[in-house]
Amino acid sequence: MDLIIRRAMLPRSAASQDGQAVDIGIDAGRIVAVEPKLAASAAEEIDAAGSLVTPPFVDPHFHMDATLSYGLPRVNASGTLLEGIALWGELKPDLTQEALVGRALQYCDWAVARGLLAIRSHVDVCDPRLLAVEALLEVKRRVAPYLDLQLVAFPQDGILRSAGAFENLKRAIAMGVDVVGGIPHFERTMADGAQSVRLLCEFAAEQGLRVDMHCDESDDPLSRHIETLAAETQRLGLQGRVTGSHLTSMHSMDNYYVSKLLPLMRESGVAAIANPLINITLQGRSDTYPKRRGMTRVPEMMAAGINVAFGHDCVMDPWYSLGSGDMLEVAHMGLHVAQMTGVDGMHACFDAVTVNAARILGLEGYGVAPGCAANLVLLDARDPVEAIRLRAARLAVVSRGKVVSRAPAARAALSLEGRPAQVDFKLHRG
Ligand code: FE2
Repeated sequence: MDLIIRRAMLPRSAASQDGQAVDIGIDAGRIVAVEPKLAASAAEEIDAAGSLVTPPFVDPHFHMDATLSYGLPRVNASGTLLEGIALWGELKPDLTQEALVGRALQYCDWAVARGLLAIRSHVDVCDPRLLAVEALLEVKRRVAPYLDLQLVAFPQDGILRSAGAFENLKRAIAMGVDVVGGIPHFERTMADGAQSVRLLCEFAAEQGLRVDMHCDESDDPLSRHIETLAAETQRLGLQGRVTGSHLTSMHSMDNYYVSKLLPLMRESGVAAIANPLINITLQGRSDTYPKRRGMTRVPEMMAAGINVAFGHDCVMDPWYSLGSGDMLEVAHMGLHVAQMTGVDGMHACFDAVTVNAARILGLEGYGVAPGCAANLVLLDARDPVEAIRLRAARLAVVSRGKVVSRAPAARAALSLEGRPAQVDFKLHRG
């Protein structure tokens, strides 16, 4: 074998060994064995020593065309969504393909180091030059040996509101962009928003593509485009291929209406993506106090059988000044905002940045089992809850069977009389 990771603990969603440590055998880019005390040898062996090995983090919602542009041409003074969109509009004419590719590749380096090996990125198609589309298609080719990048044709300014946007979106798909995007709540009227959902879903059905729309990213309880998205999914037979991103208006909707909406979403097989870091900072901006959190109804959707994942959305761009590609930071924020502090809830938040997100992207061979792709992360934590609590170091990241990143464990040396020489921030009893 090429590589064996010994004495690994698996997350609940991948654990078939009942909490027992396993050895993971890897050959020719595939996992070939997952069992205790694997009787084999390999060119390279890593001792996990009881730490968690997980399939890679997956970011199901990102904007790689804008990432790392913080401060260009100026910073977002108010920190609001609308100033962010205006700022992006100011930046667009100055974009060059070279700068876009450079920033995106730098972000992908960060992602790999964070064990984030699959990203669905929206790419703005409203610029008729389709410069960002060309740039991200080039990035997709360049990172393909180590990272799965899926692209969504995203009409930032609306397909009905912005002249030529739908045609540009179709051109982007013809160039190789994977998924059909949309932004119904940004169209001029509710009727236009619903019409945009219909047109885009019909186009996706014709082309046999997946759909992922920015949907109802507002605090307006009457923004109900998710209902149209679910209904169109059923009408066109798109079940399992459609995702509503953000869905923040659901936070503010009437409970009776939501009690009808959740079963509709479940029957339609529509998945949901919350973006906790962005939702908690951008929503509720018109409120005084009490101030709404604005994140969609994550635990309620999960309980209704809807697949829910968490996305990063933004890192150092016109909408968000922070972030470093750490999906554990995303899970940490999601856990807090959704108050998912029970044990099952915390594990569900880990799933939201791993297995649930992988299902949305339709990743093949994702998991820790024989036959799966050898994409794995060794974390400096013993279980997913500890991983979220510590935003644990990625001790080793394996992509396509090769170790592509290593990082030291987080330790601090103490100089205190009568106290230990070192702390690792883990609970040690007895
Ligand atoms: Fe977004």
